[in-house]
Amino acid sequence: MQSRNEYFHLRSAGTSVVIDLTALGFPAIVHWGEDLGELTEAQLEDLGIAGRPQRVSGGLDTPSRLTLVPLESAGWHNEPGLVGSRHGRDFSPTFVLTETHSDAPDGGPTTSVRLRSVDEHAQLDIQSTLTLDGAGLLHQQHTLTNLGDTDYEVQHLLATFPVPQSARELLDTTGRHLRERSPQRHGFTTGRHVRDSRRGRPGADSTLFLAAGTPGFGFERGLVHAVHLAWSGNQRVAAERTVASHALVQAGELLAPGELCLGPGESYTTPDALGSWGDGLTAVSARFHDSVRARPSHPSTSRPVTLNTWEAVYFDHDLDRLTRLADAGARVGAERFVLDDGWFRGRRDDTAGLGDWFVDDDIWPRGLTPIVEHVAALGMQFGLWVEPEMVNPDSELARAHPDWILQTGDHLPLEGRQQQVLDLSNGAVFDYLLERLDALLGAYDIAYLKWDHNRDLLEAGSTVTGKAAVHSNVRALYRLLDELKSRHPALEIESCASGGARVDLGILDHTDRIWTSDCIDPIERLTIQKYTNVVVPYELMGAHIGGPRSHSTGRRHELALRAGAALPGHFGIEWDISRLDDAELNELAAWVDAHKRVRELAHTGRAVYADLPDETADLRGVVSRDRDRALYAYTQVTSSASYPPGPITFPGLDDDQVYGVSLASPTTPLDGAGQSSLAWTEHPVHLTGRSLRTVGIQAPVLFPEQLRLIDISAI
Ligand code: DGJ
Repeated sequence: MQSRNEYFHLRSAGTSVVIDLTALGFPAIVHWGEDLGELTEAQLEDLGIAGRPQRVSGGLDTPSRLTLVPLESAGWHNEPGLVGSRHGRDFSPTFVLTETHSDAPDGGPTTSVRLRSVDEHAQLDIQSTLTLDGAGLLHQQHTLTNLGDTDYEVQHLLATFPVPQSARELLDTTGRHLRERSPQRHGFTTGRHVRDSRRGRPGADSTLFLAAGTPGFGFERGLVHAVHLAWSGNQRVAAERTVASHALVQAGELLAPGELCLGPGESYTTPDALGSWGDGLTAVSARFHDSVRARPSHPSTSRPVTLNTWEAVYFDHDLDRLTRLADAGARVGAERFVLDDGWFRGRRDDTAGLGDWFVDDDIWPRGLTPIVEHVAALGMQFGLWVEPEMVNPDSELARAHPDWILQTGDHLPLEGRQQQVLDLSNGAVFDYLLERLDALLGAYDIAYLKWDHNRDLLEAGSTVTGKAAVHSNVRALYRLLDELKSRHPALEIESCASGGARVDLGILDHTDRIWTSDCIDPIERLTIQKYTNVVVPYELMGAHIGGPRSHSTGRRHELALRAGAALPGHFGIEWDISRLDDAELNELAAWVDAHKRVRELAHTGRAVYADLPDETADLRGVVSRDRDRALYAYTQVTSSASYPPGPITFPGLDDDQVYGVSLASPTTPLDGAGQSSLAWTEHPVHLTGRSLRTVGIQAPVLFPEQLRLIDISAI
């Protein structure tokens, strides 16, 4: 429908977005947040007028407004939404809105608009799409087209979202290998807070989201708006507050000099920038989760319990040993066996072999057939580790094709894990990898690829174009993943990158889960998973039980903590369980059973986190969509100053529903010296959701680093 409106009002899932098309330059978002109800055109116009800023002394005669693409030509003195030029010319474009189009599915409220803005002088065209999906998640994308007859070099094109004046605190994540997505908070003061990622993948230290909210906002409450970029390469996520009372969050791709040069008629589309909001981070994450779960490609089958060989055997690929491991896996209820790094030519350790994707005849004289068939006979799926984008200099591939490596000038980039990165944007590289992976998938019954990526990129230039090539490599990676999936429709792919260094909704559009972190220490995992879960739902987050002593922290933990922390995720085992005795295997099998009983709840329900006043403890849960059933995990992370620790309250339940509360198996109450049983375990209690949310129940007394499960079910 062609529309002449001056305002658009998008509404979906309790969210309103009001767009004012009369702003100078680009349209402005007047409101993004709570649903404003049905508004007439006149009311929308009044809302727009009411929001127009005054001219002030010392300022421009036309006060600047925050638009979708804020630009100098419209008085914007801060970071422009578009930066680019034609060899220095046309550095400050002036766009005029020329076309608008809106969609109102099934005659309901408008949920999507397409806007076209043109600068006749600079010969640039931007098509902007804003869509509120069924979860109330706001998608923003721009397509820039060069209408001129000379090249236009793009430095950046960012998606901009306004946030309310009440947003005075920022939350984002940082991290490192083995400790991804550590939260950090800052005051949201005047100025710009920028999180750039220049690692060719988001990286362990990148922020998964940038949230701006009322001071002290938590998971349970506090108005908060957040942005996430669905992109697996270099990126910029920023928040800015100006002296003119503008507050915004922004996200877009970060481009190297000359990386994106649009020839005449060429276009560039920005990655999908996603905005969510709500009262508390749980509400923010609910929109992400609902949106991800509504994708047609979202896994629809129960997530198979996975036995991964990495921390069990590392590079010791011995058929007998792996066969015994598979037997033990089947015995405890594993459903998928993943053969990790070490199966291909020359790969005895991490110094050689990457690129030579042929089964190593020395260790696998009969190919992978014996292990694949053994696993199948045990009723499990078979999965295989690959790291296609990488090459060891010590490999046949690197020796034969040194020009296939991303590089620039007269030198190769510094090595990382003794490896270099291949240029997937080079058609010959793409074809080689497609042929090799397709051949492996054709030769063996492989249900799953664990697709790894173990180094940050540096100086990532293509020898074909001589230019920086991160953007084209990410696009080629997506194409390669899609092509493999179209040739092997049942294939599932895990995105791993030194653990969780490539976690974003871009890669998850082409894969089926992420490996959340190489750290499976459950105490570390509590934080890593909590902040990953703000964007990524549990069923897409790999969560494994490691051995009693964590390989990454050296700490020892009882099984209840290791398994309880992994329970809601895409659950698995990464531990040499072939050495366990019968009693230990039975104990582990009980946890696998517990996961199978709870996975539907965890993988379709609402993930909730309590903002406990005592920060030494952690309470999180999953609540079914009808709020009839919930399972919470209570962890004493470190020792508390309070003894007993006092009451804990439960978010996410139905206020008016009456629930029974019990400790859930396989965890058991703890009977430490001098301590009585908990009253509510001795005398079953029935409490309303409101009482559980406001008054709560006494927390169990636990040792530090112990976890207990609490079942709350409607009666
Ligand atoms: C890094 C991954 O995160 C690990 O799980 C494992 O697959 C190793 N690479 C193998 O080299």
